[in-house]
Amino acid sequence: MNVQHIAIIMDGNGRWAAQRKRPRTWGHKAGVKSVKATLKACVKAGIKHLTLFAFSSENWRRPEAEVNRLMTLFLQSLEKETPELTQQGVALRFIGDLSSFSETLQRKMSEVAAIYPQQRRLTLNVAVNYGGRWDIVQAAKQLAFACQQGDVNLSEVDESHFHRYTCLAEQPPIDLMIRTGGEHRISNFLLWQCAYTELFFIETLWPDFDEKVLQSVLDAYQQRERRFGQTSEQLNA
Ligand code: IPE
Ligand code: IPE
Ligand code: MG
Repeated sequence: MNVQHIAIIMDGNGRWAAQRKRPRTWGHKAGVKSVKATLKACVKAGIKHLTLFAFSSENWRRPEAEVNRLMTLFLQSLEKETPELTQQGVALRFIGDLSSFSETLQRKMSEVAAIYPQQRRLTLNVAVNYGGRWDIVQAAKQLAFACQQGDVNLSEVDESHFHRYTCLAEQPPIDLMIRTGGEHRISNFLLWQCAYTELFFIETLWPDFDEKVLQSVLDAYQQRERRFGQTSEQLNA
């Protein structure tokens, strides 16, 4: 398998619940099951890095009750699932502006991120209060600070240097990004990181996503030719 890193915009929980005449939060709960199934499927397929969009910097604009429910569900899931995930070899990381979360949640996230499974099989990056533009700005700020301190010379700054300050810099590039739920947009997810990522927009609602759906996307990915600006002839030479 030549896929090292997958990113997923887990969308469609609300519509999945509405179809069943249930509140939107019912869909979020069902979405947690899909996360677990996806993790298992990735481990099985030998994928080493997975980045999931769980809560965007814009999702604070939702009704307060839904935001609160999402926070509770997030905390409960971390409490409940971490031991089993660690046993499976999953290491959790969090990306986003974590300072906006409650102290309890922040503490839990740093506790979970400090766990190193004995045999690491998958790194799971959970994007929370994450925004692609925020990521670029925080990188620019770090770089500006380094320049101001005299640690970096502006003349040595290029794309690969800038990249070091962005989220996920130490992980392989994202090979493919999947958005479930039928919308054809990135919604401020990994803007810098997905410059050459293969994009897949699928109709499946997130609570219906499973190993089979993942496999069908991986099959479609194998049919794509990643040219990175070159011609097909050059690649096949
Ligand atoms: C994605 O599902 C989950 C989060 C954004 C937290 P939605 O809640 O956006 O579901 P739809 O798009 O309204 O169906
Ligand atoms: C994107 O979904 C964010 C997550 C999946 C966490 P949204 O449902 O918030 O995106 P928009 O509002 O449809 O663009
Ligand atoms: Mg949505």
